[in-house]
Amino acid sequence: MQVLHIDSSVLGEASASRRISADIVSALRQTHPDLTVSYRDLGAAPPAHMDGAILQAMRGDVSQLNDAQRAERAYNDTLVDEFLAADIVVIGAPMYNFAIPTQLKAWLDRLAVPGRIFRYTEKGPEGLAGGKTVYIASTRGGLYWGTPAEQAMDHQESYLKVMLGFFGVTDVRFIRAEGLAMGDAARADGMKKASGDIAAIAERKAA
Ligand SMILES: Cc1cc2nc3c(=O)[nH]c(=O)nc-3n(C[C@H](O)[C@H](O)[C@H](O)COP(=O)(O)O)c2cc1C
Repeated sequence: MQVLHIDSSVLGEASASRRISADIVSALRQTHPDLTVSYRDLGAAPPAHMDGAILQAMRGDVSQLNDAQRAERAYNDTLVDEFLAADIVVIGAPMYNFAIPTQLKAWLDRLAVPGRIFRYTEKGPEGLAGGKTVYIASTRGGLYWGTPAEQAMDHQESYLKVMLGFFGVTDVRFIRAEGLAMGDAARADGMKKASGDIAAIAERKAA
């Protein structure tokens, strides 16, 4: 059982999503003794943002690439290979400015390689990276899971669900801690709710 563990918070030791993603991996270790985990810290070492040269490196004919682009191609292939190889992906994904961290967006942009992660057919797009479970450690300062007006402001979980769905991943599970900037009691409540959901993973219940 191969797990890919991704973090993207820029808050280091103070990060809530890093704590939750680590706890999810620990819970998975309890239910899957044969777990192999690879870890990528996008906050510490983000992929460069996609520009024209990188897009060509990702998708172009290798014989047409310069040395820098060949290095980007090798790096990009590693990102795609490790995502495809994972049975379970755990992603620490805070809400920043109503969306995901720019480092996490850069990683998703790098994964979106036609012919490997998705393809277009006469019937429309088809995801090629299905058959895996993705856990999202979702942290937010405010509340977005209540009213329709609150949910409309969420471009973090909603974006991740759409993007992963485009990749072919239908089993996306959110472990959510929200209200984290609304005072000590709300923060404790938010983290406690996430802990309960993680305990359910360890007990093999649906999370
Ligand atoms: C740069 C930045 C932008 C943020 N933007 C939002 C936001 O739009 N909505 C919100 O509810 N919380 C926002 N927050 C609060 C974070 O979602 C909250 O602190 C969460 O714990 C971040 O996860 P992390 O601790 O793993 O980085 C923001 C925090 C930072 C640092």
